[in-house]
Amino acid sequence: MEGSMESPTLYITRLLPQPVLNAIPRHYRMLAEPRDRPPTVEELKRGFAQADAVICTLTDRIDVSLLSHATKLKVIANYAVGFNNIDLPAATQRSIVVTNTPDVLTDATADLTWALVLALARRLVEGDTWVRSGSWPGWAPTQLLGADVSGKTLGIVGMGRIGQAVAQRASAFRMSVIYASRHHVRAPSDLTWERQPLDTVLAESDFLSLHVPLTDTTHHLIGQRELALMKPTAYLINTSRGPVIDEAALVSALQTRIIAGAGLDVYEQEPSVSAGLIALPNVVLLPHVGSATIETRVRMGLICLDNVAAVLGGRPAPNRVN
Ligand code: DGY
Repeated sequence: MEGSMESPTLYITRLLPQPVLNAIPRHYRMLAEPRDRPPTVEELKRGFAQADAVICTLTDRIDVSLLSHATKLKVIANYAVGFNNIDLPAATQRSIVVTNTPDVLTDATADLTWALVLALARRLVEGDTWVRSGSWPGWAPTQLLGADVSGKTLGIVGMGRIGQAVAQRASAFRMSVIYASRHHVRAPSDLTWERQPLDTVLAESDFLSLHVPLTDTTHHLIGQRELALMKPTAYLINTSRGPVIDEAALVSALQTRIIAGAGLDVYEQEPSVSAGLIALPNVVLLPHVGSATIETRVRMGLICLDNVAAVLGGRPAPNRVN
């Protein structure tokens, strides 16, 4: 008994950055060498059956059937701020603590949101492709005309940590910020953020950025009706979760120029992306890299290890979500 307390078994479902692996306490028994590919269902079952603690990623589906194998599992540390991949009530029912990685990825994700805003507005991907093709004929007054960002209206849906970090960056572009959120948020003293109903935010934004968690309520929050409310010159940016947008409705809105363009880091059926999106020039498509900086991904791993250590040590987990 004492031995098993001293040597808890840790299962990490996916290869994490080396500094995170280096920080794993030596007395933990690693169930398997973490692999640089998604685990198979069999590997997940084996891991959940044998581990005291699991560190998993947003692509691992942790459902009731998988949790039914978890006989001694005490903690699931999700390597993400979002935790829609985990059946929370089922974990709670089995007294398994679930944790996430808030705060440490806020800046990285807000920065990437802005990369999409600027890439869309100034048509960066089209320009890069043209130059690389060797067919760019040289400067011309009417070439690749984009849209101003400065002075425009930024709409934010979901004013949590990341939404607020995106809003703060808008002041560098002298933008007006409006937002739709369940809660009123106090802007820093030198800034003005105006809370509005979702339909008003949709109708008035030049750039609309989504920052809600994926829940039953936010699934397909942006569909045909919502897209139709947006300006034909507006751009939609999503760095939250793919299913917040009805992707088929978005493809149709982009094809028919109901809106001007979209910048996406996340998709409804990752890793598959609608063929309709891929065919369009007025979209920028990224491979879910919101938190993908080395500093951030290391911090995310260290937070997972902190939460695991807390639960295994009988202390409250700092980032418990259930
Ligand atoms: C998260 O943490 O939810 C992000 O999507 C990871 O990149």
